[in-house]
Amino acid sequence: MIKGQLSKISQPIKSELDTFKDQFKQSMRSSVGLVDLVARYIIRQKGKKIRPLLVLLSAKVAGGVNDRTYRGAVLVELLHTATLIHDDVVDNADKRRGMWSVNKVFKNKIAVLMGDYLLSRGLMIAVENKDYDFLGVITTTVKRMSEGELLQIQKTRKLDIDEETYFRIISDKTASLLETCCEIGALSASDNPEYQKALKEFGNSLGMAFQIRDDILDYEGTVRTIGKPVGGDIKEKKITLPLIYSLDKVSKQEASRIIKIIKNGGTSKDIEDVIGFVRSNGGIEYAFKTAQTYSQRAKAALSILPDSPSKIALEALVDFVIERKN
Ligand code: IPE
Ligand code: IPE
Ligand code: MG
Ligand code: MG
Repeated sequence: MIKGQLSKISQPIKSELDTFKDQFKQSMRSSVGLVDLVARYIIRQKGKKIRPLLVLLSAKVAGGVNDRTYRGAVLVELLHTATLIHDDVVDNADKRRGMWSVNKVFKNKIAVLMGDYLLSRGLMIAVENKDYDFLGVITTTVKRMSEGELLQIQKTRKLDIDEETYFRIISDKTASLLETCCEIGALSASDNPEYQKALKEFGNSLGMAFQIRDDILDYEGTVRTIGKPVGGDIKEKKITLPLIYSLDKVSKQEASRIIKIIKNGGTSKDIEDVIGFVRSNGGIEYAFKTAQTYSQRAKAALSILPDSPSKIALEALVDFVIERKN
């Protein structure tokens, strides 16, 4: 069903998405057999392709898709794939996209190096084509994503995260890339700084809503729908918005009881306890409301752009992001 929703959203750029997929495959080719082997595995792990979708739709709404747009879409998907492979090493995750993670199948060494390979291929393609404007934005994004993940680890150790820090983490680790996708799409298609600014803002708000939804799914989903274990964040001691809100709401004693479970726990009973705690204290509803606020902000940012099927698709993507089940 969700797949159907996304294919409807992709309608205005259907043929462009096929061209992108060919170029994405090409970009990973190597004379080293092991690289090709892992690359073929990665291509079989089908992701939602939201980032290339954003690049292509942003370009189309701002003026039109061209060769540079495709290079931008390949660049962001390579970076995204690299960060997911690294993220699964960092989180010691064994599932991704409903399949075994790269680290599970090929081990950490290969996963780390393959992530580096993909990132460098993306940067190389930009250098070879003198897409220096893309390089300017993407390198800042890589820095922000790494900082976001590191700040998250820092907070995981102390378990003392508040809402403000949570927003900073998700803005850096996730929203920065979605923002960059829209900016790169706009840069490839238009010189209008107003369009570039509007799409950048759109991508940032969409990205915030996207990660909040992702964090809700960790409490609400099932392994079948999300393609990775439920409660994974709790296991990793990641305190996200539904839990931050619930901890703030209850007495000090109750909050420290839960924190203790997270600190020492890890059994499925512990995880169930924390999930139950969040569900019964309205943490999911609160996070969902917050995601909705960001989704409204995203839609508002599009107002200056000309009406077109691509603009309607971007608006539909906002709804998809907060309703998605995976
Ligand atoms: C996963 O992103 C990483 C986050 C930022 C939460 P997606 O959910 O877009 O991943 P794929 O590409 O569809 O697997
Ligand atoms: C998302 O972090 C990965 C990046 C933004 C790099 P998470 O650890 O929360 O994402 P999942 O749950 O593994 O997809
Ligand atoms: Mg992870
Ligand atoms: Mg997560």
